[in-house]
Amino acid sequence: MEVVQTIADLRARVKAYRRKNDQSVGFVPTMGFLHDGHASLLQKARSQSGLVVLSIFVNPLQFGPGEDFERYPRNAEKDLAVAEAAGVDIVFMPSVDEMYPTPTRTTVSVSEVTTRLCGASRPGHFDGVATVVSKLFHIVQPDQAFFGLKDAQQVAVIEQMVLDLNLPVEIVPCPTLRENDGLAMSSRNVYLSPEERQQALVLSQSLQQAKAFIEGKSASSFTSQELEILVRDHIQTAPLAVIDYAEVLSYPTLEPFEHSHSITTLIIALAVKFGKTRLIDNLILQVRK
Ligand code: PAJ
Repeated sequence: MEVVQTIADLRARVKAYRRKNDQSVGFVPTMGFLHDGHASLLQKARSQSGLVVLSIFVNPLQFGPGEDFERYPRNAEKDLAVAEAAGVDIVFMPSVDEMYPTPTRTTVSVSEVTTRLCGASRPGHFDGVATVVSKLFHIVQPDQAFFGLKDAQQVAVIEQMVLDLNLPVEIVPCPTLRENDGLAMSSRNVYLSPEERQQALVLSQSLQQAKAFIEGKSASSFTSQELEILVRDHIQTAPLAVIDYAEVLSYPTLEPFEHSHSITTLIIALAVKFGKTRLIDNLILQVRK
């Protein structure tokens, strides 16, 4: 496994690989502090691509003022061990100066799919994500890029960007990995106190309740409002939970709907704060006709 810090070095190595091989280049962008969710993306890349490139870069552009950029957890040594175990070929770990040597005057901004959910509660966040991911795509020039559905809106944004800008990369969405008790794995889970960690289970539990509700109703129709109320009521049983959003929308268009018979795929998307820690989770379901 090679660890590279500069764009020139990364480009030279990918180019050298392509000269000698006709296999595909797979790419997994991350912000580090790797857990099994990240590792599952790396394993998928390992199984589908000839060369596996991992990037670790905590991207300042996608953090708003007052968010956790400064205190975002970092552990390069452990990350390299996880990468090595997953069979990564190249780890790209640029500095902020390497990625943004001069003030950025170009922003990649995706509209419509960014108007709700995290796009609404974290203004500018998806501009930061789309801009850095498009830079990384131009640097790595992968054939496939692997993204987790834990960040389902991010997947929708990147797919829209790739479509609109004709980027020659296939986006591979990957399922959310969870702890044994259902909590979606996240680098931010380390912020939680034991009490918050316990109460955070209401996210995955409420999604499971919504799933059971829908399955019971598969023959007939239900409204998004019914689902939203069910999910909110369960989250609010946790005294420390403060709901940022709990919304039921169509996926991947992320538009509101009233009756389930008007759509084919829905997402129940949650963002809930426990103290200073904001957790997200979601469930994507086909609506049976
Ligand atoms: P980060 O939060 O580090 O996540 C990197 C990738 O891992 C994303 O595609 C994310 O969806 C995926 N991931 C996180 N938790 C997961 C889980 N429990 N199961 C499966 N996949 C999971 O997302 C980002 O970084 C950044 O926005 C980035 C795309 C790197 C741009 O800066």
